[in-house]
Amino acid sequence: MKVTTIGAGYVGLTTSCVLADHGHKVICLDVDQVKISKLERGEVPFFEPGLQELLDRVLKKGTLTFTDDRKTAYYHGEIIIIAVGTPPQIDGSPDLRFLKTALTDISEHLSSHKTIVTKSTVPPGTNKWIESELAQKADRKLFDVVSNPEFLKEGTALEDTLNPDRMVAGGNSAEAVARVKELFSFVSAPWFTTSLTGAEMIKYASNVFLAAKISFINEIAAICDAYHVNVEDVARGIGADPRIGPAFLRPGLGYGGSCLPKDLSALIYAAKSKGINPKLLPAAGEVNDSVTKSYVQRLELLLGTLRQKRIAVWGLSFKPDTDDTRYSPALTFIRKIQEKGAEVLAHDPVVKETSEGIISQPDPYSVLTDADALVLATEWSVFKQADWGRVSRMMKGKIVLDCRNVLNTGEVAAAGLDYHAIGRYQREQEAQ
Ligand code: UDX
Repeated sequence: MKVTTIGAGYVGLTTSCVLADHGHKVICLDVDQVKISKLERGEVPFFEPGLQELLDRVLKKGTLTFTDDRKTAYYHGEIIIIAVGTPPQIDGSPDLRFLKTALTDISEHLSSHKTIVTKSTVPPGTNKWIESELAQKADRKLFDVVSNPEFLKEGTALEDTLNPDRMVAGGNSAEAVARVKELFSFVSAPWFTTSLTGAEMIKYASNVFLAAKISFINEIAAICDAYHVNVEDVARGIGADPRIGPAFLRPGLGYGGSCLPKDLSALIYAAKSKGINPKLLPAAGEVNDSVTKSYVQRLELLLGTLRQKRIAVWGLSFKPDTDDTRYSPALTFIRKIQEKGAEVLAHDPVVKETSEGIISQPDPYSVLTDADALVLATEWSVFKQADWGRVSRMMKGKIVLDCRNVLNTGEVAAAGLDYHAIGRYQREQEAQ
């Protein structure tokens, strides 16, 4: 099929590459000329495991091209995939500016039938609005709209696109939904079909549920901590119940990234705009904000004060295997301890520099000289395999605060370091 993808971010680029690898003729459009030039040279503009190799392959096959020329892009596709960003605004609602521009462009290039597939996460009612907007500007017979939300995760974007748990398609035309299913015929996941708005709600409810699950386990971790109970035992114990499930029950510094915080705010905004006052959803966000504070307080308690303390921080990205620092809990933590007078030296395996001006030091050990404490903020696997003897010799203080509950407590302690976490008591400690 001839496909045009609008937006070369995580969703747009991954989808373009995967579709092009499965024989579709894909043009990917982005307004960012620097990004397009990089992609034309064969460079993936962000860190995403496996994507570079796939891009190399499809460029060689000649099934994927990039352009910033809207005319070329919009004439090409019989399927137009909208994968533009919908960043949050101060009031919590998403900024639909890029989507609106795409719609204007589509309406100006509707010379033959096009199926418009919305992958961008958009508030309930947006796809219906897209349909009515286009109907005002173009012949209704020339387009269909299908809401096909994307569930891929950064760091595993390729695997998630090739082997998703489920596919969701909302639309008013059975033929259009069938076309989208045909486009993704290489995917073996079950399809859930619903209305345009139903598909939008599935996406929001999924992400908000995940956010709530993380906040739930973080709240439980704080209670476990007070009772000297290991929260991992509790997560395993409750996760064995199929009604609960074991995934997304890892306590820590909280959730970040470009999706969970944004989608939670957007759904609260969408609810309020209909006169509904949600209680559980804002609470999930409040708990998430409070976990960073709890870790800051713990560090302050351990050191007496943060003023003029030298803190080594491992990890800047919002989670491992990505260079994305949007809404990264690691950065919130760093900002808070800096406000309390701490001096921070940080290292991340892929992030070079953050928009806040934090520069990643060349290796994990280079941040340790004279450090009063080491904080693990993002659980990159390289940190789990650290040489703890070396860490111990380099640091001035002995405190290690594991904000992701992932380090081997025995190995850390054996090196003469004081291991700390929230809700990670060992059974022996409980017995004491
Ligand atoms: C999320 C959704 O998972 C995905 O389906 C959607 O398409 C986009 O949003 P992503 O933002 O890439 O994906 O990251 P995800 O793996 O979901 O993690 C989100 C945050 O939750 C990270 O900060 C992670 O560290 C945190 N997290 C996750 C926990 O704190 N505990 C957990 O148990 C799981």
